[in-house]
Amino acid sequence: MTAVGIEVNNLNFFWPSGEQVIKSCSLQVPRGEFWMLLGTNGSGKSTLLRLIAGLLTPQSGEIGISPPVGFVFQNPDHQLVMPTVGADVAFGLVEEKLPPTMVRARVEEALGAVNLLSLQRRPIYALSGGQKQRVAIAGAIARHCEVLLLDEPTALLDPDSQLDLVASVRRLVKSRGITALWVTHRLDELNYCDGAFLLDRGSLVDAGEAERLKKLLMKEGGEK
Ligand SMILES: Nc1ncnc2c1ncn2[C@@H]1O[C@H](COP(=O)(O)OP(=O)(O)O)[C@@H](O)[C@H]1O
Ligand SMILES: [Mg+2]
Repeated sequence: MTAVGIEVNNLNFFWPSGEQVIKSCSLQVPRGEFWMLLGTNGSGKSTLLRLIAGLLTPQSGEIGISPPVGFVFQNPDHQLVMPTVGADVAFGLVEEKLPPTMVRARVEEALGAVNLLSLQRRPIYALSGGQKQRVAIAGAIARHCEVLLLDEPTALLDPDSQLDLVASVRRLVKSRGITALWVTHRLDELNYCDGAFLLDRGSLVDAGEAERLKKLLMKEGGEK
């Protein structure tokens, strides 16, 4: 894998009930690009993202991805575990057994990247939803992730912080050469990506330029 950041080949996934939620999915995200995964509720977006992250195991198919991989959940309260901003970002580095000075440097660098350096000692409970998502993203940056997977990170945000977050994630991944896949069902977020995939009832039915997909989906939405 050289020019590809995320590669999925002919992936199939069934729940224990026998329900097939991911059907022969193949996709490629070029290294360093910011792509989105679109689809209606229940189409399988979260399942596909979890498969790519290795949080679920497919029955068949292949996944190629360069570690370390960062994952940002829809609800940051399910992800942030430590009492303060700095401690939470540092917690993600425990496995790497770095010396304390290195941990401090990584945490500060990552918080600087998401514009939260001044909130390092702030308790998590005192943060807004958008700030919590930035802490989760800083956790991935501190681990020097090559790939960032985000599952509807703006779902719980108001419209202003929603567009703020997508714009800052775009800047961040572009400046660091991170490959990112962002799940959403909000068409206004499409303006920020390099390309998008469309998932429909477990099948990838379209992929390519965001502007074209946006027009297509706006037309479909209008006809309903
Ligand atoms: N843990 C689970 N066990 C069984 N079925 C599930 C589970 N999680 C999700 N599903 C089902 O899988 C399908 C796809 O869900 P999901 O990937 O969450 O879709 P999306 O993120 O696009 O809304 C849905 O029919 C959902 O009900
Ligand atoms: Mg989902």
